[in-house]
Amino acid sequence: MEKVTVPDLSEKKRRGEKITMLTAYDVPMARLLDEAGVDLVLVGDSLGMVILGYPSTVPVTMEEMLHHAKAVRRGISRALVVGDMPFMSFNLYHEETVRNAGRFLKEAGCDAVKVEGGQGSPESLEAVRAIVEAGIPVLGHLGLTPQTAGKLGGFKVQARRAEEAVRVVEAAQELQEAGCFGLVLECVPAQVGEEITRRLSIPTIGIGAGPHCDGQVLVTHDLLNFSGAFHPPKFVRRFADLNQVILKAVKEFGQAVADGRFPSDEESYSMPPEEWARFEPMIRHKDS
Ligand code: KIV
Repeated sequence: MEKVTVPDLSEKKRRGEKITMLTAYDVPMARLLDEAGVDLVLVGDSLGMVILGYPSTVPVTMEEMLHHAKAVRRGISRALVVGDMPFMSFNLYHEETVRNAGRFLKEAGCDAVKVEGGQGSPESLEAVRAIVEAGIPVLGHLGLTPQTAGKLGGFKVQARRAEEAVRVVEAAQELQEAGCFGLVLECVPAQVGEEITRRLSIPTIGIGAGPHCDGQVLVTHDLLNFSGAFHPPKFVRRFADLNQVILKAVKEFGQAVADGRFPSDEESYSMPPEEWARFEPMIRHKDS
């Protein structure tokens, strides 16, 4: 099983083969995604909402991202692992930006980082340039960028108007020129996804960006419906229903404990007969 590399992804685009990316935040999920043959595993800052219970991705820290990225890396042997740069980890000074990006590689063993923003955000473009210059592969992220959703008017489809769509296409080209090896396109009309995919030589990976992107990404917990109570956006397809599977299993456990069916003799340990024969009189002796 050969490790996926950045050039493998361009090669897939060239051959017209679709790319798959999914999120993971821990070892068991990372192992399963790797075994299933996913090309890229993203340690997304969606971690904040999916796992840590924050109301948005904004509070997520570098330390939280690294903690989970290290775990994910331990579960991966084949997929390309991408660490998501959290809000304010790449927005201040280049030196700090490059140091933070480097920590994903040096401390967590990631292969690349993802940086959100670009359209109307010269800071993101500058950050991408600085990180690429340091020799770290960068995956861009355009369209709906959750870290700055407030500025974009909330969690809604971007680039529906022609002028805005042109700006996103231009920003995609700028990110390619800045050295990104690929681009996540989130929540843009399918026509915009198609136009950007056609214009760029680097692969596009869509999430709510239509079927013409070079690849697709989803938050794994969304596709598995493993999120507690959460109403997913239109672009999510639920390929399984883990909420129901888990609820059923946990209720059955409760019932089996309550009526004494769990644990059974097979699920219990017993003393060797000769030890039991010695133990019983010893313990009875203590009672008298
Ligand atoms: O943080 C994340 O999981 C992401 C994906 C939705 C692309 O950025």
